[in-house]
Amino acid sequence: MKTGIIVYSNTGNTLQAARRLQEAMKGKGQEAELLQVRAGNEKPESDVSRVRLTEKPSPEGFDRLVFASPVWGFSLSGVMKAYLAGLPPLAGKKIGLYVTHQFPLPWMGGKVADDAESYRYLAESIRMHPSQEELKTIMKTAGFGHVDIHNMTGGVVALHVGIKC
Ligand SMILES: Cc1cc2nc3c(=O)[nH]c(=O)nc-3n(C[C@H](O)[C@H](O)[C@H](O)COP(=O)(O)O)c2cc1C
Repeated sequence: MKTGIIVYSNTGNTLQAARRLQEAMKGKGQEAELLQVRAGNEKPESDVSRVRLTEKPSPEGFDRLVFASPVWGFSLSGVMKAYLAGLPPLAGKKIGLYVTHQFPLPWMGGKVADDAESYRYLAESIRMHPSQEELKTIMKTAGFGHVDIHNMTGGVVALHVGIKC
């Protein structure tokens, strides 16, 4: 079974993950080829109709395909969308897809809010924040006899309620 890992990467993250995937597959004795989609646009282009694809790897000859792309503007990168839109039918092939993303982002702070430092701090504080259960334990250790966790907005926000007995 031959796998084609078809990757678009602008700054290297998705490509790095693709290389690791390829190595892992090869390590298991599987045949995996890495192919890159490329675009001639100077800046990331989300408008699919304006993407100029310069390299469009063929999906032919693979039994399995893994498509890999960065997230741009809360969606698949315009380059990968343009590439996928031009593909022939993939019937009979096993398909996988992964994306890389980074949110909240220093690039957002830098390019959108002009305050990269605060966004770096925000990303770091999210990384360092204890899990819900860890925070519950910390609160109990601090003397709250009863601690409840209320997930809100599907768990995007959680309210920890502690009762001091
Ligand atoms: C124009 C642009 C838009 C982006 N939009 C998002 C986004 O909406 N959400 C997110 O989590 N990351 C976003 N990112 C961050 C990328 O998805 C992330 O850095 C990704 O790993 C880059 O992959 P690459 O190095 O393979 O290009 C964006 C990056 C760029 C350049």
